[in-house]
Amino acid sequence: MASGDDNSVYVEPAMGLEGDVGVPGDKSLSHRALLFGALADGRSEIRRFGSSADTLSTASVLRQLGVEVNVDGDQASVEGVGVRGLRAPHEPLDCGNAGTLIRLIAGLLAGQEGTFELIGDESLSRRPFERVAEPLRRMGAQIETTDGCPPVTVVGRALEAITYELPVASAQVKSSVLLAGLLTDSGPTEVHEPRPTRDHTERMLAAAGARVAFGPGRAAVWPTAALRPLSYEIPGDFSSAAPLLAAGVLMPSSRVRVHGVGVNPTRTGFLAVLERMGARVSVFNRASVAGEPVADIEVSSSELTATSIGPSEVPLLIDELPLFALVAGLSRGESVVWGAEELRVKESDRIATTTRAMRATGVHIEERPDGFSVRGVPTRPRGGHVVSGGDHRIAMIGALAGLLSRDGVRVEGAEWVKVSYPGFFDVLDSLRS
Ligand code: S3P
Repeated sequence: MASGDDNSVYVEPAMGLEGDVGVPGDKSLSHRALLFGALADGRSEIRRFGSSADTLSTASVLRQLGVEVNVDGDQASVEGVGVRGLRAPHEPLDCGNAGTLIRLIAGLLAGQEGTFELIGDESLSRRPFERVAEPLRRMGAQIETTDGCPPVTVVGRALEAITYELPVASAQVKSSVLLAGLLTDSGPTEVHEPRPTRDHTERMLAAAGARVAFGPGRAAVWPTAALRPLSYEIPGDFSSAAPLLAAGVLMPSSRVRVHGVGVNPTRTGFLAVLERMGARVSVFNRASVAGEPVADIEVSSSELTATSIGPSEVPLLIDELPLFALVAGLSRGESVVWGAEELRVKESDRIATTTRAMRATGVHIEERPDGFSVRGVPTRPRGGHVVSGGDHRIAMIGALAGLLSRDGVRVEGAEWVKVSYPGFFDVLDSLRS
């Protein structure tokens, strides 16, 4: 691997991958641990904090709101100010690239005293926000968006509990409504999802002592006067482990083991898909940390056959669908992803950017309105030049395509991996055998 002057990285083909690695703490859980720690009474201690550009945006927004947050490597601590203790700053709150932050914090701020302006980078400023604003307004919040997107202004109000049918399967929207639900005068606030999505908010709120009830596709919270601080070791990020596991499966003569990965079933759809395609996968050393299951995962080289992914599976591997395009490209047969239009409103339009990136490396992929189809050929793709377009997951699949290709891949905008996994390129290099 060699870096260019233009923030591009050339990833050369690998012969095999071998090794045992850990991955940073889960990004979804790291955001939540800081946010819920801020609402607690007392000091929360977070170990294996997934420090990345996104989660550091959460730390800095909380500091602007008057919360003391310390991050030192993978250790973080938060001095909670209580469920209604956030203080309105004079400056806008800069959420950077982080969709989880801007959506979750809107729910929290809707019930605090004061006026809050939420802004983000160019990508975040194009992402839909009415899906969050609409249910929060029904609860009594005053929220203005800019043509349906950030910048957003939230004026805190007394909130009322609602029962809400989510029009899109989104854990971020669900979480925003549930967090506002903590601050109502009556309860419960209930959310019903069209398809089950990740349930980290529900599990972590329960661990912090909130009254929560949840099951597949539904969740309810009751108003809460106080949350307990958390002392918590965050499970490794399944979405950061997934590219390493995929590479271990696709590369000949390879074995990759990732330790201490979060295996919450609302997140591990990609593992189920790999197994269905014929991958050799073992999951062992299962444990549970603050209500979240954790395990070690080992994979080895396997021949894969095509599969299809439809709408009910999509939320369980939403962030791994770009990676699936690469996996499908190197499997035998035709794979299809459908009912995944949500990909169009992620950090980039991931149907378009995934298709472009994979085509550029020689994968036979066609864009569809709600997904993509891939004609897999189980030989090394040519390689080429991938442009991340400011999207961390596209930079990562470009790099993996480089390892698996004949000629290597130059990844332009490779630095965007910092959004979720700053050490990604070093770990990939350490696995080369
Ligand atoms: C997230 C939920 C997902 C996911 C995002 C993180 C979360 O978004 O894509 O990376 O932490 O709740 P949606 O819930 O909007 O699909």
